Amino acid sequence: MNRLPVFIIFSAFYLAFCYIAYLSLNAVFDGHVLMKSIFGSLVIIGVFGIYRGLNQFTGRPRTPGSNFLIGFSFSLFICLLLFTVGQFFIYIIKAIIAVFMWNKAVISYPTLWPSYVLLIVVSLIFISMLYGAIWGKYRYSVERIKMKIKDLPEAFRGFKIAQISDIHSGTFDSIRQVEKGVQKINDEKPDLFLFTGDLVNFHKDEIDPFIPTFAKIKAPFGQYSILGNHDYYGMANVPQAERGNYWSQFDQKHEQIGFKLLRNTNVQIHKSGAVLNIIGVENWGTGGFPKTGDLSQAIRGMDANAPSILMSHDPSHWDHVVLKTKPIIDLTLSGHTHGMQFGINSRWLKWSPVKYRYKRWMGLYEEDGRQLYVNRGFGFLGWPGRLFMWPEITIFELEPAE
Ligand SMILES: [Fe+2]
Repeated sequence: MNRLPVFIIFSAFYLAFCYIAYLSLNAVFDGHVLMKSIFGSLVIIGVFGIYRGLNQFTGRPRTPGSNFLIGFSFSLFICLLLFTVGQFFIYIIKAIIAVFMWNKAVISYPTLWPSYVLLIVVSLIFISMLYGAIWGKYRYSVERIKMKIKDLPEAFRGFKIAQISDIHSGTFDSIRQVEKGVQKINDEKPDLFLFTGDLVNFHKDEIDPFIPTFAKIKAPFGQYSILGNHDYYGMANVPQAERGNYWSQFDQKHEQIGFKLLRNTNVQIHKSGAVLNIIGVENWGTGGFPKTGDLSQAIRGMDANAPSILMSHDPSHWDHVVLKTKPIIDLTLSGHTHGMQFGINSRWLKWSPVKYRYKRWMGLYEEDGRQLYVNRGFGFLGWPGRLFMWPEITIFELEPAE
């Protein structure tokens, strides 16, 4: 693909938008030369970011510099958008007051404090987004969940399962930072490790520089993985006849890491004579995502008397298929949403724009005796940053349900 026309179109939109924001800023700062210089510099850095962002599809490795440029231009765009929309509302409010007071002068009322307050708020958001783009994306957080499972054998009481999801290795820019996340997983000393898909963004080879790092993840009962929607995208440019070869090479990469890839199949974990089913399906998602996940095939041959944990990348699979499947799957582990890498995640309020796209977008859900846990993801994609939706390592400690 010739990226130059795409770059020109994107940049033209970006600059046109910047000009609208500039008109607002100019009114607030009365055309001050310092404002013009700072704004001009930010916009130029933003154009470089667009150029580098469009190159992300070429498989060119990311560096801290390129990720910063992409994060910077995206953050700037969002903040200029917020400022422009905010200024528009300030103008509307002034216009309404002018109508009620029958005084047109209110519209050009010299008090600029609402615009200054808006500018301070937007600047704080911009600084926060830069924090998210530089540090937030590697601020690994461990979520500890006491997971109650019906008829859990006593042998599995206290059994620790670590889950991560959505590695998206092609977007990482620092092996050292990823090592810290891997160390955090191992520090938890899990009995079993599960990875719920999206090892890469667009091509299987993205994982190569990180294989030695993820190979350090060790759990005595094994490490298992599944595929996510992004793991299929590399095949788009592979001729039909060579696709089998592509997949076997992809399988080998999972093997090199030490992950046993479960593609519509299951394994049994044995502990002191008791059994736990671990099931893995291929991706099954709504909205145009691959639907090669086959749960009825995946559960074939499993121990129907033992509790079962399913790995399925896309949480929409749970509502559409898993809830309707017999025998009951006790727990499903998903990822995919990333919590949109941005939102509010406090004890009192959980919000992210992604909740309007996915009914099950983060955390634990329960329905009809089945549970679903949606992990926020370990890596990042698109905006190379995370803000308040920090990368997640989930540690489940199994307990029998009362
Ligand atoms: Fe993902």
